[in-house]
Parts: sequence; C-alpha cells; structure tokens
Amino acid sequence: MSNLAILGGTPVIDAPFEIYNRIGPAERQAVFDTLETGVLSGYIGAPGPEFNGGPKVRELEERWSDAFEVRHSVAVNSATSGLFAAMGACGVSAGDEVIVPPYTMSATAMAPLVYGATPVFVDIEPETFCLDVELVRAAITDRTRAVIAVNLFGHPAQLAELRILADARGLRLIEDNAQAPLASEHGAFAGTIGHLGVFSLNRHKHIQTGEGGLCTTDDDDLALRLKLIRNHGENLVDHYGIDDIAGLVGFNYRLSELAAAVGLAQLDRAPEIIAEREGFGVRLSKGLAGLDGLTPPTAREGCRHVFYAWPLRFDPDVVGISRSVFVRAMAAEGVPLNEGYIEPLYLLPLFQRRTAIARNGAPFNTDNRTYAPGLCPVTERMYNIEEIGFGICAFELSDQIIDRIIEAFHKVYDARDHLHGLQDAS
Ligand SMILES: Cc1ncc(COP(=O)(O)O)c(C=O)c1O
Repeated sequence: MSNLAILGGTPVIDAPFEIYNRIGPAERQAVFDTLETGVLSGYIGAPGPEFNGGPKVRELEERWSDAFEVRHSVAVNSATSGLFAAMGACGVSAGDEVIVPPYTMSATAMAPLVYGATPVFVDIEPETFCLDVELVRAAITDRTRAVIAVNLFGHPAQLAELRILADARGLRLIEDNAQAPLASEHGAFAGTIGHLGVFSLNRHKHIQTGEGGLCTTDDDDLALRLKLIRNHGENLVDHYGIDDIAGLVGFNYRLSELAAAVGLAQLDRAPEIIAEREGFGVRLSKGLAGLDGLTPPTAREGCRHVFYAWPLRFDPDVVGISRSVFVRAMAAEGVPLNEGYIEPLYLLPLFQRRTAIARNGAPFNTDNRTYAPGLCPVTERMYNIEEIGFGICAFELSDQIIDRIIEAFHKVYDARDHLHGLQDAS
C-alpha cells in the first residue's frame, strides 16, 4: 500500500506556503524618508533637469548602471512600459517584423504590435525555454527590424550569439530581462548583452517596487530616445536637435520617487536576495537529479541561472503517468506546481482573430501570416505536456522547505504505480 496523500495518506507538507515578502525595514525607512521630503515625483515633461525625474529616480538609475555594468539605465513604471519604449527607441514601425518567442508574458509580443509591427513567433530550445538561435536566423526577412530575446525563468537566452547575429544583419537585439536580474552569460550580465535590456520591478520579481522597471543600454542615442518616450518627448525633439523623430511620440512611463526609493533599498539587497533564490533552485535541481523522466533545470555552461521560477521537464512516457496526475499528487502532498507556464501567445484571441490595434486589421492586413496551432511545436510540447513549474520567487522558502519538496517529489515518483487509476483533470 502507498501512503500517497492523494490516496488518503499523510501529506509531506501540511501547511500552505506563505507568499514571499521581500519588503523589510530598509524599504519601509526609504519610503518614510522620501515622504518626509514631500517630493513624490520630480518629473516635468519640458526641457531642464526635471525632464529626467527626481533625485531618487536619478540615483536609482546611476546605481543600477553601476550594479549591472552598463552605461545608461532609464527607470520606467513597468517592464511593459520599458518594452514598449524599447520598440519606439529602436525605430520599430508599421510594416516591420519583430522576432519574439511565444513562451513568455504577453507584453513581450504586444510591444511590436503597439508600434504597428508584426510579432513573428520563433520557437524555443527545450533545454532553456529561450529562443532557438538557428530558428531566429531562419526567420529573418528584409522586414525584420528587431529580436526580443526573453531570459525566461531566470536563465539567459543565447545572448552573445544572438547579438552577433543581430549585428551582422543590422537588427536590434532587445532583452526582455524581466525575470533574470543578475543572471549572466560568460561573465556579462543578462540585460546588457543586447542593444537594450528591460528589467521588471513588479511585485512578483526577485526585487520589486510594486510596479516598476528599468531599461539598460550602452548606446547614448537609444538612452535619449527612451527618456523622450518615457516623458512626453514630442515636446523636446527640437530641444535635443533630433532629426529622426519617428517613434518619438511620448508617454507617461515615469516611475515615482517612492517606488524609486524602494528600488534603491531592494537594489542594495539584490545580490543577497537573488543568491538565496538561486540557491533554492540549485538545491531543488540537485535533489531531483537522476530520476528517469524528470529533467530538472540547470544552467548552460558559462551561465548563471537566477531561478525566478524552476521549470522541470517531465516525460510522461518514461514516468508512466501524465503530468496532470503527477501535479495533482504533488498538490495533495502540499506542493503547488504549475502545469506549463503561459499558453503559446499566438493562440491568444488577438492573433487567432487577427485583430489588435486597428479596425482595418493592421498590422495583420499587410501579411498573410497565420497563427495556427503547431506553429512552435517545442513551445506547445512544453506547455501542454512536459513543463512543470515551481514559483521560486512566489513563496517564502528555506533549505528545510526545499528538502520537504524534494521528499514529496521522491515520494510521488516512487509510488507512481499506484496512480495509474487516476484520470487526468480536464
Ligand atoms: C518575461 C516578462 N516580460 C515582461 C513582463 C512585464 O513586466 P511588468 O509587470 O513590469 O510590466 C513580465 C512580468 O511578469 C515578464 O515576466
């Protein structure tokens, strides 16, 4: 007989996981001190020093640039804003194509659409869940303007190779680095290897300000364009003597002083917070090494994986039961796991109905691209069959908790023969 909790036995973990809280005394003090100044935002959308925001925003940008060894950081109020601004800064416009992976948060693929460009979905590598470079190469056309590589789950895409490819073909490489602060590839920080990187400080990320983000670049021109898009830049193009004004319609993507103050406190703690989360991911992977049919995530050689999430690959043919039954059995043991990450983005209604930003069908009316199931088979296999996720940045964790999770995995895995009678949840 088995003691599996799903069959009436005792669960390995009998209390729900607590939601991870990264906010401590330093953040509280930073907010209080900023409130005392009475300056909650320092921005004005007109020429002058206030065009670049208040003291906390500017300090955050300077310190972020130091920490990530990059020339410019531009604070914004979300990574979504950062991705949109990146498109405008890079001159993406109507008729262009932008290569994106389909296994990512939707904002990655919305960014080109907002500028009238078409996202072109390219499949991912099964090992890292990031863009497959050879497929990127094959997808480049004379309309391609940019590639957005997503450093998914905390692991860098093949960034150096993508950069070489982008430079050779005259494209911009943008990194969606929302999930991978302090991840690295061959000693270079993720988010700084492309022409432009975008970080998120939303409440789910390693470090957070509630809502917020930063763009990073070594390129002076891109940095200025990002700042113009962030802050009503149409009023300043003459002031800055800019000829190429396409894409420089400004928004209000400004981060508040309060959020920036929290960001500074979080940035101080980033090495420690991120190393701790990374440690949990590594410990979990080590504890599950060697089980046939389960492939825990590891870092590609020369890379640092910071484990925003921990994506396990599950082979139902080898394990002998479906992913769904396995995940339900783990839930009964007290371990919350996700079956797949995000449905491949091309299956969203806006692609299926080819209706996004305009009633006349633009930008889909300028090409005959279809978004049928099967477009990116690796992504679909990961989403539908193989990937099991655990939210390393979602819960309060400790080495002891990770060890209990490992114990639960082994318990369910070893007793899986008892689960054959269970049906997949529909
Ligand atoms: C890969 C990725 N890109 C972009 C975003 C958007 O970030 P934000 O919520 O800061 O706009 C997220 C947030 O979940 C993300 O995970």
